[in-house]
Amino acid sequence: ALEPTRDDKFSFGLWTIGWEAQDQFGSATRPPLDVVEAVNRLSDLGAYGITFHDDDLFPFGSFPTARRTQIKRLKGALESTGMVVPMVTTNLFSHPVFKDGGFTSNDRDVRRFALRKVLENIDLAAELGAETFVMWGGREGSEYDAAKDVRGALARYREAVNLLAGYVTDNGYDLRFAIEPKPNEPRGDILLPTVGHALAFIETLDRPEMFGVNPETGHEQMAGLNFTHGIAQALDRGKLFHIDLNGQRGVKFDQDLVFGHGDLQNAFSLVDLLENGGPGGSQAYAGPRHFDYKPSRTEDFDGVWDSAAANMRTYLLLKERAAAFRADPEVKAALAISKVEEINVPTLNPGEGHAELIADTSSYEEFDADAYMGGKGFGFVKLQQLFIEHLLGAR
Ligand code: GCO
Ligand code: MN
Ligand code: MN
Ligand code: MN
Repeated sequence: ALEPTRDDKFSFGLWTIGWEAQDQFGSATRPPLDVVEAVNRLSDLGAYGITFHDDDLFPFGSFPTARRTQIKRLKGALESTGMVVPMVTTNLFSHPVFKDGGFTSNDRDVRRFALRKVLENIDLAAELGAETFVMWGGREGSEYDAAKDVRGALARYREAVNLLAGYVTDNGYDLRFAIEPKPNEPRGDILLPTVGHALAFIETLDRPEMFGVNPETGHEQMAGLNFTHGIAQALDRGKLFHIDLNGQRGVKFDQDLVFGHGDLQNAFSLVDLLENGGPGGSQAYAGPRHFDYKPSRTEDFDGVWDSAAANMRTYLLLKERAAAFRADPEVKAALAISKVEEINVPTLNPGEGHAELIADTSSYEEFDADAYMGGKGFGFVKLQQLFIEHLLGAR
């Protein structure tokens, strides 16, 4: 079960394996990767999908004929391999025109241009049968507090995505939007910096049901947050429309490492949540397992494909380890001692309100709070050690 299959729903951004590895301090270390080669290689490795920004497929400003040629080549590769395009996204961050953002640039002409660029790409997403349209507002933000009216910018953000949802509705497209949070980079501060900010924003939209989130492992961790917690809260609201898996080691620049090559414990709890966190231990998320990582600048193309395979293998290893963790009788006993399942028992009895709670003397007057001093430990450390031992393959 460590061989990836289509049923695992592994997908990759064309910009991940196709990254030429230029960074702030150095030029590219790899030549461009053709989309047909990308689809073929990913298919051979066992992935089921490929995703892209408009500008990954054809350069910014391409004429319609050049666009059609590339779309045709992509479609041909999809047909011959059986690969799909589950998600499409728009590049509103690379070209100089977006230096102060797309939907929230202070320059109104830029905002109108950004909307047109996205509308065009929504048509392409629908044409390719994508289910999800991701919006990562990498340039929506600022470096200087004096330079951005944040409430105005959020109003323009809302105006933009409301227009896009109306367009999808009016055209009868079967497409949902997933907003991708990130705290910073490339902007000093990015709007909608975390899953929580994005979830709150979604509730203010005209058609909130059309919007969910696309959380990326490293982005929450760049903010020092627990990715698994963020995913759990998105699931709680039915808003996990898509996910970007990768690795990040601590609060620093966006590392985009291979999944599991960052905070491995958190990756383990994440896979356990996705695979076993649903009702009765079922899958909690059925969408694509999408890798948004960057093959390190040190790698040649062999390293690119090794790293692509590593993402999937690590995911499947963690899935296997999570199943073993859940099946272990000692773990079951430890979970019971830790009262992990008791969190799912409502705090109030059926039909009970504040009057009944106040009338229940066992809840307060007779309750022995002092018993928690020196007693009634939760045994969480022992439980976590079992979790680690399963992660290490020691059990
Ligand atoms: C990042 C982001 C981007 C977006 C992608 C989709 O690493 O900063 O994840 O890679 O996911 O560009 O728009
Ligand atoms: Mn990232
Ligand atoms: Mn991402
Ligand atoms: Mn990325």
